[in-house]
Formats: sequence, structure tokens, C-alpha cells
Amino acid sequence: MVDPTAFSDAAETRGMDAALDEELQGLQSAGLRRSLRQVHQRRAGTVLLDGERVADFASNDYLGLAADPRLSRAASAVLQAEGVGAGAARLISGNHPIHEVLERTLARFKGCEHALLFPSGYMANVGAIPALVGPGDVIYSDALSHASLIDGCRLSKATIRVFPHADVEALAAMLEADRHEFRRALIVVEGIFSMDGDLFPLDQLVPLARRYDAWTYVDDAHGTGVLGATGAGSVEHCGVTGQIDVIVGTLGKAMGTSGAYVAGSQVLVDYLTSRARSFIYTTGAPAAISAATLEALRIIQVESWRRDAVRERAMRLRERLRAAGREAPGMSDGHIIPVLIGDPMHTMRVVADLRRRGFLVGGVRPPTVPTGTSRLRISVSAVHPMELVDALAATLIDVMRGMPV
Ligand SMILES: Cc1ncc(COP(=O)(O)O)c(C=O)c1O
Repeated sequence: MVDPTAFSDAAETRGMDAALDEELQGLQSAGLRRSLRQVHQRRAGTVLLDGERVADFASNDYLGLAADPRLSRAASAVLQAEGVGAGAARLISGNHPIHEVLERTLARFKGCEHALLFPSGYMANVGAIPALVGPGDVIYSDALSHASLIDGCRLSKATIRVFPHADVEALAAMLEADRHEFRRALIVVEGIFSMDGDLFPLDQLVPLARRYDAWTYVDDAHGTGVLGATGAGSVEHCGVTGQIDVIVGTLGKAMGTSGAYVAGSQVLVDYLTSRARSFIYTTGAPAAISAATLEALRIIQVESWRRDAVRERAMRLRERLRAAGREAPGMSDGHIIPVLIGDPMHTMRVVADLRRRGFLVGGVRPPTVPTGTSRLRISVSAVHPMELVDALAATLIDVMRGMPV
């Protein structure tokens, strides 16, 4: 006979489940529990959500490239020839020639000397920041930094100073107060902020950083492909190409594929190749994905209408909301459109109402955003038909009727 008490692990697991379940109940009653939905068959700004076709205003597929058949064909060709997996970390035996072609192409696109691929934007930030600064150094980080930047800063064990969102004067005062006490200083910001849709004034950041001998680190996850005359992102948009020390970009958003990169000088890339743990200790990207990303880069450069279409749709939606008395903060033609509600329960109720009426929008709650600032996060894509944008505006105004402005 088996004695069940002999399985102490099993007993602890039951204890764990009870403890975690209690926490989940707490999250549920605070309106903060998260769960997955099934999304597939992305087409022309719509998706099948749990089996029903809805307009997708929640994704980061700003240029409509994620389901573009040219990307699939580029990936398929390499998939047939090379198989699926890279087989190893790139420093071991997983460095495919196409990775290097993509890195050179990304570097040219961003106006940098070189670039290094990472498996995701999250991993780029948690790898690059701790490689660059550590104990004895200081990070000045924007108050609304993305979770991956916050985690990268914490992992670094550098002293962290958080300055009010996009407030260059406050940042200057902090640099003046204690920059001199530390060896290295890194200023961490997003080019266009993921949840607020506003730009960091990078043109003001550059001279300030120089004055205080600080390095600049710009996560341009949401600007790349969309902002700037050639789509190179917020750095190009702000006119500071070649003047930012470290630029991070993701490939899973406007590029429509997956992965990320850090771009900067040749020395920076050489250094991160030897020091960024999330680059060193992880398997290389599938070559087929890199092929698809190269195709996305080609399309971004030749199809500038996609960027124009994003801007037109963003302006139209903002205009409609404003006419109904609902202000949407952020850039006036910005593709990330936050609609502040405040309470997480109310936010998720609006999301559910919109969903019932055929629109998928993001509901963003703490800890993704500060308490009291729960919001809808609406993102427009080049492939949204304009009628769909108008329909969303009308439905949203209707659903929010009676809610405080
Ligand atoms: C500012 C920012 N940085 C990094 C990331 C992470 O990128 P990835 O999805 O490639 O991990 C995101 C994505 O949500 C983001 O918004």
C-alpha cells in the first residue's frame, strides 16, 4: 500500500494551490484577474475572437503586416530550406547568416552602426540594462516606463531614480542633484509611451544627457515602423538620429513578426554580445522569422502609405471622440489612443460592452498603469477600413454615454 503522507511534495502542492487560489479570488474581486482568449485568423484589421469575427483595435500590428502573405511567403521559403529551429544559442551553433543580414539591415534602418537581435523586447531590456549599469551607477527612469524596463533597471542593482513622466525639467533637477555621486548614469525612456501614446522630447534629452555625462536608452517598441519620415521611429521623428546611445526596438509590433533588437555603436553591440545574459543564454531566433522580418523592413520602406493611413485613422478617431466631448490624450495624430476611465471594473465593463458589439479594444489596469488610471487602449492600424474606425467611434461614444468625461 502506498502511504500518501510520504508524498510531501503533493501535500505542499495542495497548500500552494489553496494559497494561490485565495490570491486569485482577491484579484477577481478587485477587477484585476487576467485570463486568455483565443485569437486567430487575423485579416484586414479583424480577428476571430473565441470563434467570432471582431474588429481588432487592441493589437500592435500598426501597419497590418502580421498577416501579410508576403511575410508568410518569405518565412515559408526559409522554413522549407532551413527547418524550424536555430538549434542552439547564437554563440554556440545557432548563428544563422540571415540573423546577421537582418542585424545589418536593422542598423541601417535606424541610422546606427550595428544591431543585435534578442528573442523579445522584454528580454532585450532585462538583458541590456543590467549589462550597461550596476552597483555604483545610477539610472534615471521615466515614471511610466514599461514593465520590461522597470525589471531591467531592478535587475541591474544600480540606484534607480524615477522622474515624473516626460518631465525634462524634473529630470534635469535630478541629474544636477546627484549625478556626480555615481560612476555611470543611464537615462531610460520610451520613444512613444506604450500606454499613454505620447512622445518623449528626445531632442531635449540629448543635450541634457551630454551636459551631465549620462547615456541615453530609448525603447522605441511602438514608434518603429510608424513614426519618422522613413518609419525609423521616434528618434527619427524627433530629429536625433545617430545621437541616442542605445535604441531598443521590437519586431512583434509594427514589423508584424517576433523578436527585438538593440541598436547603437559597433562597440555597444560587441559588448552586449559578451555581456547581455538574455542574449547569451537563449536559443537564436528561427531563421524563417528573420526572413519575414527582412521582408517587413523592405515593405516598410517602399509602402509609406501605411504610415499615412495609420495617422489618418488616428486623427479621425481622435476627432470623433473630441467632438463627443471625450478627450484622447497623447500625440494628436498618434496611433495609441488612451481613453481614461479610472476604475478597473468600469474599464472592463466598457471593454465587454464593446466586445458584445463587435469591437476588441484593450482594457488596461494596474499594475500595467498606475492605480486610478485604468483605461481603454485603442490602437489603429493601416488596414482598418475607415468605416470601421467611424463605427468604433460611434459605438464607443454610445457605450460611454453617461460616464463622467
Ligand atoms: C515599451 C515596450 N518595451 C518592450 C516591450 C516588450 O516587447 P516584446 O513584446 O517584444 O517582448 C513592449 C511590449 O509590450 C513595450 O510596450
